[in-house]
Amino acid sequence: MALNNLPDAEYKEDKEKTESSLFSRFLRKKSPEEFIKSSEKNRLNRALSAFDLVILGVGAVIGAGIFALSGTAAAGGAGHIGAGPALVISLIFAAIACSFAALCYAEFAAMIPVAGSAFTYTYATLGELAAWFIGWMLVLEYLIGNIALASSWSGYVVSFLKGFEGSLPSFITNPPAWLVNNYTAAKEIYREAGIEKFIGFMDSKFAALGMDSSIIAERFSVANFDPSVFNPAVFERIGFNSEVFLNPASQIPHLGPIPIAVNIPAIAIIALITYLLYLGIRESARITFIIVLLKVFVILLFIGVGMTYINPDNWTPFAPNGIKGMFVGAYLMFFAYIGFDAVSTAAEETKNPQKDMPVGIIGTLAICTILYIGVVAVLTGMVPLQDIDTHAPIAAAMMSVDQNWVVFLISIGAIAGLTSVILVLQLGGTRILYAMSRDKFLPDVFSKVHGKYKTPHINTILAGIAVAVSTLFLDLNAAAELCNIGTLTAFILVCAGVRVLRKVDPHRHRPFKTPLIPLVPILGISTCLALIVLGMPTAKVIIIFGIWVITGLALYFTYGHKKIHKYGYNSH
Ligand code: ALA
Repeated sequence: MALNNLPDAEYKEDKEKTESSLFSRFLRKKSPEEFIKSSEKNRLNRALSAFDLVILGVGAVIGAGIFALSGTAAAGGAGHIGAGPALVISLIFAAIACSFAALCYAEFAAMIPVAGSAFTYTYATLGELAAWFIGWMLVLEYLIGNIALASSWSGYVVSFLKGFEGSLPSFITNPPAWLVNNYTAAKEIYREAGIEKFIGFMDSKFAALGMDSSIIAERFSVANFDPSVFNPAVFERIGFNSEVFLNPASQIPHLGPIPIAVNIPAIAIIALITYLLYLGIRESARITFIIVLLKVFVILLFIGVGMTYINPDNWTPFAPNGIKGMFVGAYLMFFAYIGFDAVSTAAEETKNPQKDMPVGIIGTLAICTILYIGVVAVLTGMVPLQDIDTHAPIAAAMMSVDQNWVVFLISIGAIAGLTSVILVLQLGGTRILYAMSRDKFLPDVFSKVHGKYKTPHINTILAGIAVAVSTLFLDLNAAAELCNIGTLTAFILVCAGVRVLRKVDPHRHRPFKTPLIPLVPILGISTCLALIVLGMPTAKVIIIFGIWVITGLALYFTYGHKKIHKYGYNSH
C-alpha cells in the first residue's frame, strides 16, 4: 500500500524541532503514515462503501434531536427560551456550522483513514495533549449522548405500548414508573401523580359539598403546586395522605437503604446494541439500513400529511424571542446534527476511504438538513407555539389533528430512529476508545480485537456496561447539552488542525481538499464558538463540563502521558 511509507523528512524535522522544546512531550505528534501503519496490525474489517456511510450517517443523525428536542427548541422549556417558527433559521445556522466542520473532517478522514476520528487527526497535527483532550471530548459526545438517547428510547417505547391497553397485559402497557425510569425521574412521576391525586380528592370534596370546583383547577396544577405553603397537619385533618407527593420516593421499592429504580427498556436497548456491535460492523450496517429507511419514511409522512393542516397564522410572530431565541434554538438543535462525524470514525472499516469518506459525510449532512427544515416548518405551522409538546412534539402534533394512524407509524419510526442513533454513536464511542488505547492513552484492553469478528470486543462490552449503568442517573436535556459542548469543542480543534497540517505539511497527498483555506476553518471555528457563546448552555451543564475537562486532564497527566512515554507511540 503506497500510504505505508516511513514518515517523510519534513515530518521528522518538525518532530525533532518540537522535541527539543520545553513542551515537546505534550506537542509530540504522530504522522499520518504512522497512523496508517500502526492500524495495520489490529486491522478492523474493511466492509463499508460510500452508500453504507451515508446510511450510517443518517442512522446516526436523525434521532432525539428532531423527534424530541425540536419541541423545546421551538416553544422553550427546560431552562431555555424558544426560537419559535424561526427555528428553521436556527437549523440552517447549525447546519452551516456543521458544514464548515464537515469539510474539515472530510479532508482529515480521507487523508488519515484509520479509526479514531478527530482524536486521530488532532494527534497528527496538534500533538499529544490536544489529542487526549479531543478524545476525551468525543467520549463525552458519543457515550454521554447515548445515555440521553437510551432514556428517550425507553420513553417512546412506553408510550407506544400504552396504545395496546386492553389487548396486552397491564404490566406491559402500564408498567410501574420505577421499572422504566431512573430514580430521579421515577420520583418526579410519583410526585406529579400524587399532586394529581390530591387535585382529584379536593375536586370530589368540593363536588360532595355542592361547591364550585373550578377554583381547584385554578389554584392547583402539577406545574405550580407548592406543598410547602401548607401545614402537613392540614392534609391529615382533611383525610388525605400527603406522603404521596411529600415523600414520593416511598413508592419506590427499597432494598435496605437502596432504592430500586431501573430503566429496564433503556438497559435492554443498550444490551442489544452492544451485542450487535460485538458481532461486527457488517451485521450492524445491515440492520441500520432497514431502520434508516423506516425513519426517513415516517419523516416524509409527517411532512406530507402535516402540510395539509398548516395554518400560516401560526408562523407569526416568526421570531418571538428575536436573535437570542434563534441562537438558543441553534445551540439546542445542534444536537440533531451530531453523529455525522461518527461516519469518519468508521474510516478504517471503509473499502475506499479516500473517495467514499467525503461523500459519506457531506451527503449525510445535506439529506438531514432538508428533512429537518421540512419537519420544523410543518410543526410550527400546524401547532400554535404555546401548544407544542416538548416531549414528543411530532407525534403530539399529529394527535392534535386526530391522525392516529400517523401517530402510530411515527412512534415506530421514532423508536427505530433512536435505535439507529444509539447504534452508530455507540460504534463511534468504542472506536474512539480503541484508537486512544492503540496509541497508549488508555489501557491495552481497549484495543484488543476479536479473533473471529474483528471487532474491539472487550471495549464494546465495557462501553455498553458504562452507558447502561449511567442511564440510571442522567436525563435527555442535560446529556444533549453536554454532548453539544463536547462536540463543538472537538469541531473547533478539527478546523484548527486542518489549517495547521496545511502549514506544516503542505505537500502531503490529500484525496479530498477542504476548499477556501484558511476561510473555511476560520468560519468553522467562529460559527462553532458562536453557538457555544450565544447559545447559552445552562449553568449546570457548564459545571459538569468543567468537571469532565478537569477529570480528563488529571487522567492524562497521571496515566496517559506517562504510559505513552514509557512505551513510545510507535511500539505497536
Ligand atoms: N443527532 C442525534 C439525535 O438527534 C444525536 O438524536
